[in-house]
Amino acid sequence: NDESSGATARLEVADGVGTIRLDRPKMNALDVATQDLLGELAREAGRREDVRAVVLYGGEKVFAAGADIKEMRAMDHTAMVLRARGLQEAFTAVARIPKPVVAAVTGYALGGGCELALCADVRFAGEGAKLGQPEILLGLIPGAGGTQRLSRLVGPAKAKDLIFTGRTVTAAEAREIGLVDHVVPDAEVYEKAHAWAARLARGPALALRAAKEAVDFGLETDIDTGLAIERNWFAGLFATEDREIGMRSFVEQGPGKAEFR
Ligand code: HXC
Repeated sequence: NDESSGATARLEVADGVGTIRLDRPKMNALDVATQDLLGELAREAGRREDVRAVVLYGGEKVFAAGADIKEMRAMDHTAMVLRARGLQEAFTAVARIPKPVVAAVTGYALGGGCELALCADVRFAGEGAKLGQPEILLGLIPGAGGTQRLSRLVGPAKAKDLIFTGRTVTAAEAREIGLVDHVVPDAEVYEKAHAWAARLARGPALALRAAKEAVDFGLETDIDTGLAIERNWFAGLFATEDREIGMRSFVEQGPGKAEFR
């Protein structure tokens, strides 16, 4: 996935942070090949030990304008019946990366682009970013998890407002409804998102994995099952070296001294 390969997305790794970078001019429109590549890069980021946190990024100008409408237009009902599961599996692979994942959103994040950002744990957006689910304007609904992940994130009424109208929201409104978490100057989006990831890349990887799974899987079930997931992970972490280091350092040196604090 080096730059010379001409790939439409690649995984760049430095200092424990893996950046999954879309690169498909002009608008990072996600054709089927790029969707599948995103899924593969997500699985690779999940597997690799030198990747401890992930940034999703589309470059300085645009995050992603959604599915490639020109490609999608040529697909008939049968073709989409055969494709839709693969599309969702690719995005689910991103959502299931067992490490902290942050989206760095510049410019447009529309349709599948917005849905990709929804697969991250946290979203940083530039002041000029615009997000939305405009599929309704194509006679469609979101197909890469938008109806599910957006409503879980912002609640059903706000999700329906965006999905029914297809309107785009500014970064400020997205922040207000909880669709993004931090709004920063456009030129600083990647830097700020990367700093978030870099901090967690120094953290206790197994505890972070446990935290992510307990929250994400717990949200999909009843509270007793969720609490069982939590307590099994909680007890399981007592077998880790990080827990030993963390507690020893607290007892011997006081709070705030563990390497990953
Ligand atoms: C294919 C696209 C595209 C898209 C933009 N382009 N979005 N091509 N698929 N999703 C192309 C345009 O055709 C144009 O090509 C060039 O990119 C620049 O776009 P403009 O429209 O000229 O630029 P601008 O006026 O700045 O408007 C940008 C924009 C607008 C607001 C992003 O292009 C737009 O509304 N795009 C569609 C967004 C959308 O509906 N997304 C949802 C897709 S459905 P040329 O060759 O003319 O320069 C979806 C389903 C979910 O995502 C499945 C998930 C994978």
